[in-house]
Amino acid sequence: MLTILLAVILTAIAAAVYNYKSDFWRKLEKFPTISPRYPFFGHALSVAVPREKITTVLHDLFNTFSNWRTIWFSMGPYQCIFLLHPETVQPVLAKNTNITKSELYKPLLGWLGTGLLTSTGPKWKKRRRMLTPSFHFKALGSFTQTFNREARILVKVLKKKKEVDIFPYITRCTLDIILDAVMRHQMYTQEKGDSQYATAVSEAVEIFNIRQFNPLLMIDWIFYLTPVGRREVKCLEILKSFTNQIIKTRRKEFLEENSGENKPPGGRDAFIDLLLRAEIPGEGPLSDEDIREEVDTFMFEGHDTTACSLTWTIFLLGNHPKVLQDLRQEQEDIFHDSLDRDVNADDMKEMVKLEAAIKESLRLFPSVPIMARKCEEAFEVDGFEVPVGTQLMIPPFYLHRNPLVYENPLEYRPERFLGEEADRHPFAYVPFSAGPRNCIGQRFAQMEEKVVLSHLLRNFTWESCSSMEDNPPLVEIITRPSKPVDIRLTPTNQNDDE
Ligand code: HEM
Repeated sequence: MLTILLAVILTAIAAAVYNYKSDFWRKLEKFPTISPRYPFFGHALSVAVPREKITTVLHDLFNTFSNWRTIWFSMGPYQCIFLLHPETVQPVLAKNTNITKSELYKPLLGWLGTGLLTSTGPKWKKRRRMLTPSFHFKALGSFTQTFNREARILVKVLKKKKEVDIFPYITRCTLDIILDAVMRHQMYTQEKGDSQYATAVSEAVEIFNIRQFNPLLMIDWIFYLTPVGRREVKCLEILKSFTNQIIKTRRKEFLEENSGENKPPGGRDAFIDLLLRAEIPGEGPLSDEDIREEVDTFMFEGHDTTACSLTWTIFLLGNHPKVLQDLRQEQEDIFHDSLDRDVNADDMKEMVKLEAAIKESLRLFPSVPIMARKCEEAFEVDGFEVPVGTQLMIPPFYLHRNPLVYENPLEYRPERFLGEEADRHPFAYVPFSAGPRNCIGQRFAQMEEKVVLSHLLRNFTWESCSSMEDNPPLVEIITRPSKPVDIRLTPTNQNDDE
């Protein structure tokens, strides 16, 4: 009797799994897709090419679908729906329903835990509400001093060079900025070169990239048996112990500062100070681990993203001398009283052309090339039902190059973001994502980039040694250049105070 009952239950479970599976596949098979789809690998073999070629391969692939809207792409165990058009992206980004990040973010969890970028549900909501006021324009004003100081150091370092790969210099500058802004820690990487911490940050990011593109390495026990897995353990040890040490010191200083109500020495808050002081209603203050997750999330999200955006802007300007000249003129018009002074909030508002130039480079090279969510609530796009359990892939990189949205999408033309031409579908341009899970650091990044570029424009003119075709981007966790970004610099301001 028991055997029969067990057999009935097992058959019912098998039938339910089969029905669910077949329903799932039936829904997916309605989407435009490519063939062939191999067992186990799915479509992954179509992108099994060297890293620097993936961008072009995917672009050519999307081009075969003349409407650039939705595509089903099977990556081994992951069934991905690519959303490539503002109208197909909107139902995901604009709503509060599918806000959970995809399993493809798993490589980040070892370092970031469930900080703001990777958390979901009530934890994400509470943290987001708590952190949002710290990123308002006024609250960010206190960081202008840090941006100006580090930009001046960058200029000083670059004045000793004629031809440089600009990327590492910019990366050190943005790292020093974010370390100061987040932890109020000055590491002087710009002057002293990469520290153990800086090296561990770039190594960790490189390991995430390796892992994300290899489904076998996404399985924890396999990953940690490999040399790259062991390398990650070492990197994370360095990264976490650095942050933990700073939290410990700051907490002690806070207690000494009498319950943390006083401003810290130096007169301004770093993000870590706000976290130490924060209380979540009904839960109380954050633990050291809670703070570490958020601090490390800002470190990760807040330095490589701006470094890449600045680097691509410099690279593109070096390829477009007329735009570069116009921007230098704009700076002269703003700073005619003193070309050497610091940038302030009013100056930033006047940098209209510079803002358009940065926006246009983030269109072509959005720092976060692909965002991915888990479909937890089925919805419709273009008349097809997206089933629960798929990975929703939103690639600003390709959305921004959609020929149905942007005329001559591969042309660098900052005018696209000026005057009437700037009016377009609200989800056509999403380098900082959009909707409830957009980038909390957007204003911080925009201010930082304006200040750094303003100092560069007032002190140099430059040309790029390679063209866009010669330096294809690597579309990985961050849109990075695949080759050195060599720039020929000519100083235009001999004042050594800069
Ligand atoms: C040019 C610079 C930047 C770009 C292009 C950028 C872009 C983005 C994008 C696209 C997302 C959404 C990611 C996703 O859904 O997977 C995001 C999220 C986030 N960014 Fe940024 N970011 C930049 C700079 C910054 C800075 C400077 C900070 C902090 C100081 C920051 C902090 C964050 C955080 C915490 C999140 C997660 C927000 C949430 O889910 O609630 N970002 N960023």
